[in-house]
Amino acid sequence: MFPKAALVALSFAAVVLGQQPGSVDAENHPRLSVQQCTAGGSCTTQQREVVIDANWRWLRHDVPNTYNNCYTGSDWNSEYCSDPVSCAENCAVEGANYQGTYGITTSGNALTLRFMTQGQHGKNVGSRVYLMDSPDTYQMFDLNNQEFTFDVDMSQLPCGLNGALYFVQMDQDGGMSRFTTNSAGAKYGTGYCDAQCARDMKFINGEANLLDWGSSPTDPNAGKGRYGTCCNEMDIWEANSMATAYTPHTCGQGGGQVRCEGTDCASFEDRYDGICDKDGCDFNSYRMGDKEFIGRGKKVDTLQKITVVTQFITGSNGMSEIKRFYVQNGQVIPNSYSTFPGLTDVNSLTDEVCERQKELFGDFNDFADNGGMAEMGKGFEKGMVLAMSIWDDHEANMLWLDSQYPLNRDPSEPGIARGECAQDTGDPAYVQANHPNAQVTFSNIKYGPINSTFTQ
Ligand SMILES: *[C@@H]1O[C@H](CO)[C@@H](O)[C@H](O)[C@H]1NC(C)=O
Repeated sequence: MFPKAALVALSFAAVVLGQQPGSVDAENHPRLSVQQCTAGGSCTTQQREVVIDANWRWLRHDVPNTYNNCYTGSDWNSEYCSDPVSCAENCAVEGANYQGTYGITTSGNALTLRFMTQGQHGKNVGSRVYLMDSPDTYQMFDLNNQEFTFDVDMSQLPCGLNGALYFVQMDQDGGMSRFTTNSAGAKYGTGYCDAQCARDMKFINGEANLLDWGSSPTDPNAGKGRYGTCCNEMDIWEANSMATAYTPHTCGQGGGQVRCEGTDCASFEDRYDGICDKDGCDFNSYRMGDKEFIGRGKKVDTLQKITVVTQFITGSNGMSEIKRFYVQNGQVIPNSYSTFPGLTDVNSLTDEVCERQKELFGDFNDFADNGGMAEMGKGFEKGMVLAMSIWDDHEANMLWLDSQYPLNRDPSEPGIARGECAQDTGDPAYVQANHPNAQVTFSNIKYGPINSTFTQ
């Protein structure tokens, strides 16, 4: 992701997370089936479940028969949360009403995330869920020499929104065993990290992130603390009906979840000085020059369901290439080729492609500095967690995905135009006012050896 937004939202009368499991509302994970395929192409259905991230939950002062909030809007309650450790002791993350509060529903192999939901306690904006292989653990994926396939319906996902499906190198138990003050764990969606070194997380490493907490200037439900939480991230799909990108981001420190502070977290200005590669190496067909390839009514039509296939080619030197195919109406459509001179042989990502692309676009190659493809492969070897989310972008209005970015550069220069969206329709205030019913559906997730999950 790019300047990944403080997606967290939810203007609950109360809100969100701590690191004790709650006792007021039960936690019932929605079920979602996925399929694991074998080289011969036969697939086995697995019954799984998803969990919403702890950041969205009601964070309650953990005293029996009381309903006081440890966190409201974008503020900590200083009585229960005067310091990071006592806050973790005093506060509990409660179970979630997935449909009623957060607009999250599943049916068979399909997951739908609604952008905005008016619930009993207030208005929720956006959400993020993780795939679990038991009620208490995230499912860990190793996609070296494997492919990952899913269907997506983005017909109701306009400019400024992002329906994302990606992998992050979180702990399988949400950090419970490494951080003893976290007794909620993966069952409550704890332990998030990503390559933007998310600073909007209310708890990191089992402690409240309340030091230096500052409210977001534009998001009434979010803030940022002193610490961030970093790890390798593989964005398989960041998209709306106007633009799509797939992007590996690596972190030079070894890939797994670490807490950062100061320059290590990096802000926009010192983005190349941090632990992780914030830009990543992206393949966005429009940005690579083929403006007719994917979009509304285009060759790959985002107004209809799309099957997205991503292949992770791994050789003796580790992961080397990430390839993409689409399938629509029974037709396999290989990824678009770049139209830029010197890149016309390119329709996938390798370290060499990243180097050539960044040189042409005038981008710094922080991906190479953080280990590149091989590091991404090492991350998967250790195991990565599947995240799916819907969000709007309080930092850069999603312009990096679907419009022109940065705004101070000539859009006719290679790499600046990323999609056909206007420069003002990605503002969260605009998106929330005009597209409250936006939603994305991910379905039919399959994984297995190369060429096992789709018919060519
Ligand atoms: C997958 O299929 C493509 C196209 O038919 C082929 O070129 C490639 O070698 C296959 N890969 C594997 C590992 O079977």
